[in-house]
Amino acid sequence: MHKPGNVLMVCLGNICRSPLAQGVFENMSKKFKIKVDSAGVANYHTGYPPDKRSIYIAQKKGIDISMQKARQIKTKDFYNFDYIFVMDKENFNDLRELISYHKTNSIIQLLNYPFEIEDPYFGDDKSFEIVYDKIYQGCKRVLNNWK
Ligand code: 4NP
Repeated sequence: MHKPGNVLMVCLGNICRSPLAQGVFENMSKKFKIKVDSAGVANYHTGYPPDKRSIYIAQKKGIDISMQKARQIKTKDFYNFDYIFVMDKENFNDLRELISYHKTNSIIQLLNYPFEIEDPYFGDDKSFEIVYDKIYQGCKRVLNNWK
């Protein structure tokens, strides 16, 4: 995997997992000067800040994601971003459908298959701890490949 200029983190709602992934990746990739953004497959939460539980766990790790605003993925994103990292298989399948099988090689699950970063929306604080740990591992793995 070559070192890209920018990456997009994608989950379903863009309020729990991908805003956290954006914050963690920004924080971890500072020396690479990579532009990091995030988006959701769905538009349920467009314009809203991340879920309080994601803001809280990020804050505990010294990362501020409170200023982020949710947005839905758009066709241009598939061409503007070098890599799109998704959290689970469903995100992966949804994106592949959206782009009608063009340029699919740049869509990658943040954790190696069969591992996924499951939707924590209906979970508890522990679910967000698990999500954070998995996002951290995934981001580390990606960056280790580029160093
Ligand atoms: P996310 O979590 O995909 O990690 O942002 C979700 C947030 C909201 C919903 C689903 C997943 N929802 O159905 O509203």
